[in-house]
Amino acid sequence: MTGSNGSTAVSDQPALPKPEGLEGVVAASTALSHVFGEEGKLVYRGYDIHELAGNASFEEVAYLLWNGRLPTQDELKDLLLTLGEERSLPGHVIDVIRALPGDAHPMDALRTGASALGAGGGDQFDDEPDLDEAIALTAMFPGILAAFFRLRQGLEPVAPKPEHNTAQSYLHQLFGREPEDRHWRPLEVYLTLLADHGMNASTFTARVIASTGSDLCSSITGAVGALKGPLHGGAPSKVLDMLEAIGSAENVDSWLTDALDRGERLMGFGHRVYKAEDPRAEILRGMAAEASTPEFFELSRRTEERALEMLHERKPGRRLYTNVEFYSAAVLSAVGLPGDMFTPTFAVSRVTGWTAHVLEQVANNRLIRPQSEFVGPTDRKFVAIEAR
Ligand code: ACO
Repeated sequence: MTGSNGSTAVSDQPALPKPEGLEGVVAASTALSHVFGEEGKLVYRGYDIHELAGNASFEEVAYLLWNGRLPTQDELKDLLLTLGEERSLPGHVIDVIRALPGDAHPMDALRTGASALGAGGGDQFDDEPDLDEAIALTAMFPGILAAFFRLRQGLEPVAPKPEHNTAQSYLHQLFGREPEDRHWRPLEVYLTLLADHGMNASTFTARVIASTGSDLCSSITGAVGALKGPLHGGAPSKVLDMLEAIGSAENVDSWLTDALDRGERLMGFGHRVYKAEDPRAEILRGMAAEASTPEFFELSRRTEERALEMLHERKPGRRLYTNVEFYSAAVLSAVGLPGDMFTPTFAVSRVTGWTAHVLEQVANNRLIRPQSEFVGPTDRKFVAIEAR
């Protein structure tokens, strides 16, 4: 191969297919969850997501992902007790969050908090990831976000109440008052829906880091960074921005047309694996109908309908459908969260899947180390700086 500078690029590797973005590549084996893209079906440990959503609590789902089966009543009670005991953040983590600028993004605060947890010394997060660490990290995620959310408003963090479940505790620590049923219950269903999702980018990131023998906080810190991107978990606040910019049903067509004419992507549509509707979007649509205002739901519905029609017209054969992020915006707004807390709330759920994947990875580990096709030059000669 000849490069633009005339030098030669070589490869000592056999010619392998190079799927862009690793599409279709099987990167690991997992018994945790699977996305059946053609059917629009999601399964956690053998249970269709429709079986679990609204029936299982978030903690039952977490237990299922970590242990491979649903808990008994006593096991669930023990898990809730442990989560309640583990929620308080170490002082140094609060100090680190306190030191962040108030205009930092909450995902940056979460990434920093997760990293700080791993720098705590002692033996809570030692080098070998285990289930106790997974539970502790899951317990502390809501508190990291709530502390940042309050500190940036000039308010002090709120101590968690041990009797709260995860959804209740998160809202209580954010807003400093007892959460209402109409808020924590839909949030809990949302958390069960987002807990795991096959070999998505952030999960893959967590597994790659775990495969090096690194610690749990490092794996999860990396995963938070991967989730932040708008092509992955960063979309729902952009869905809210889009709906707010559209403003009313009369503007839907012109706004979407202009955005597509500019070559922009419509947030909340399309998916690497689903070639049918994301089953989580279907469940969230039903929740949004109940939880959000009729005006906001109507605007969301109209925007979805027209976006799908336009995407099908403009990208025939691409099979672009509504993804989980579209109605997450309506549901999370309705439970009282501002847009910049949407992706962090996704992480409050997904930390269960990430930690379960890390445990699965280390239980049967082999370093994840792919290859690249080298397309650069190989024979350049160094020229001293004075002569360049
Ligand atoms: N709006 C407009 N066009 C789209 C969209 C969209 N939302 N999604 C895909 N396309 C188009 C692309 O422009 C491309 O068209 P082209 O080949 O004519 O240029 C084609 O569909 C395929 O797109 P790719 O980027 O190759 O598909 P990929 O599998 O990499 O993308 C992704 C998946 C990133 C989710 C994409 O659909 C997207 O950007 N969606 C918007 C952002 C979003 O909603 N992200 C949340 C994803 S869900 C999650 O991670 C939790």
